[in-house]
Amino acid sequence: MKPAVHSPNKPAMLFLHGYPFDSSMWREQVEHLAAHGYECVTPDLRGLGQNHFRGEVASMPDMARDAAALMDEMKIDGAVVCGLSMGGYVAFEFAHLFPERVKALILAGTRAPADNEAEKAARAQQAETMLRAGMVPISLATLPKLLAAKTLSDQPEVVKRVRKMIVNSDPRGAAAAQRGMADRRDYVSDLPSITAPTLIIVGRDDPIRPVADAEFMHQRIRNSQLEIVEDAAHLTNLEQPEAFNRVLFEFLSKLVH
Ligand code: MLT
Repeated sequence: MKPAVHSPNKPAMLFLHGYPFDSSMWREQVEHLAAHGYECVTPDLRGLGQNHFRGEVASMPDMARDAAALMDEMKIDGAVVCGLSMGGYVAFEFAHLFPERVKALILAGTRAPADNEAEKAARAQQAETMLRAGMVPISLATLPKLLAAKTLSDQPEVVKRVRKMIVNSDPRGAAAAQRGMADRRDYVSDLPSITAPTLIIVGRDDPIRPVADAEFMHQRIRNSQLEIVEDAAHLTNLEQPEAFNRVLFEFLSKLVH
């Protein structure tokens, strides 16, 4: 299906999802912002969701270029770029490749440094497990880290939705994304040159990308604001959509589009 062409009067948002998820993870944000007149661009990134990329490595710069090409098709010049976790890495690449297209940046549950050797090896191992045994073992191992204890106990529908996204991911695509993340560059030296207004969001209980990672970015991105979401781990926007939407919308309301 061809993407709709953008109405020039509407502000645009580009949402970049995490791994191993798909664009449906942004449903609550898209609904909220569409009701406030925003055009939301929500690609499925290489190898995930409906994006049937078949390469061995889904690189972060290629994902950023794909998003820019989709914006071109929709006739969108610039957007507020929001990425969660892997989507944050793609947002860093997007800001590096197309700085003039970034009206503002939202970095949720992500970090700037590249992987160390042990982390790269763990990704290679995970890719191998997925290709051999499918996505169920990964979903069982990662759910307790992706979601806060309170989410796991009190929000069974969120748990179900997250598990379904993981289990429905194509292992080949997910493995390609893992390899792409292992190969990603270090974004630390990009941080001082980011001039776009930036909102950094992190879950108070995120063991994957903890508050310290968010503080590190906040200290180095000069025009940044840090928001910590309570009762959330890695998937802040799904675990606490109201709190996430509130900080997002307050931030957007201060921007001049
Ligand atoms: C994600 O949620 O996108 C991943 O945890 C990112 C990563 O593995 O670095």
